[in-house]
Amino acid sequence: MEAARTRHARELFAPLGPTYDRYARLLSFGQDPRWRSFLVSRIPADAHRVLDVATGTAAVAIELARAGPARRVIGLDQSPEMLAAGGERVAHAGLGGRIELREGHAESLPFADGEFEALTFTYLLRYVEDVPATLRELVRVVRPGGTVAMLEFALPRGIWRPLWELYVRVGLPAAGAVVSSGWRDVGGFLGPSIRGFWRDWPEPRLLDAWREAGLADVEARRMSLGGGIVVWGRRA
Ligand SMILES: C[S@@+](CC[C@H](N)C(=O)[O-])C[C@H]1O[C@@H](n2cnc3c(N)ncnc32)[C@H](O)[C@@H]1O
Repeated sequence: MEAARTRHARELFAPLGPTYDRYARLLSFGQDPRWRSFLVSRIPADAHRVLDVATGTAAVAIELARAGPARRVIGLDQSPEMLAAGGERVAHAGLGGRIELREGHAESLPFADGEFEALTFTYLLRYVEDVPATLRELVRVVRPGGTVAMLEFALPRGIWRPLWELYVRVGLPAAGAVVSSGWRDVGGFLGPSIRGFWRDWPEPRLLDAWREAGLADVEARRMSLGGGIVVWGRRA
């Protein structure tokens, strides 16, 4: 049976595909392209076969392909609607020959052990029921020594936190509502989702989970006053 979180994520993203890129940038104050670039820079240039999980509209997959001319990227997502928008974007970028988009779940990847030289995932862990099991599954398909890197929203620290609270409680839901009912739902959902995730998975606990999943040399970098975080490590 499909887990409640998985189903909720599927319903949440279904209406967003065609407008995702434009408004995701707007609603993150223009920061998430910067975060994605740093995420992609964590992947060694000689990683030729890379999996991007929760690829959505393929923003990370496209950047991965552009960063490595000999690279082949598979982008996997559970939302056919997001993948449809991703497919158009990949074709528009002229990268159809090097990026393949596949429907599937992060919790049970349709790939063999060690099939990839590197793996990325973006804004995924808030949507899965079992974080440690999902991390183990992601690590499973990466060869020993291969890099795994993730991007997630985080909670700003110090004086920035009350401003962030104001933004996610008032600004974001209001801005989302102006765009569409789908974005209103995302606008209302994001703040509690980010807060809840970091309550359950404070950074030291999350990094321990990465190590327990079989990753070594785990590092993290906060970006944009702490509003984003990139974590990376290599399969032991
Ligand atoms: C916020 S979007 C991020 C898309 C893209 N990575 C980006 O940076 O723009 C989150 C994506 O995760 C996907 N997703 C959520 N849970 C998933 C799961 N269990 N397996 C695969 N994809 C999932 C959703 O369908 C959605 O496309």
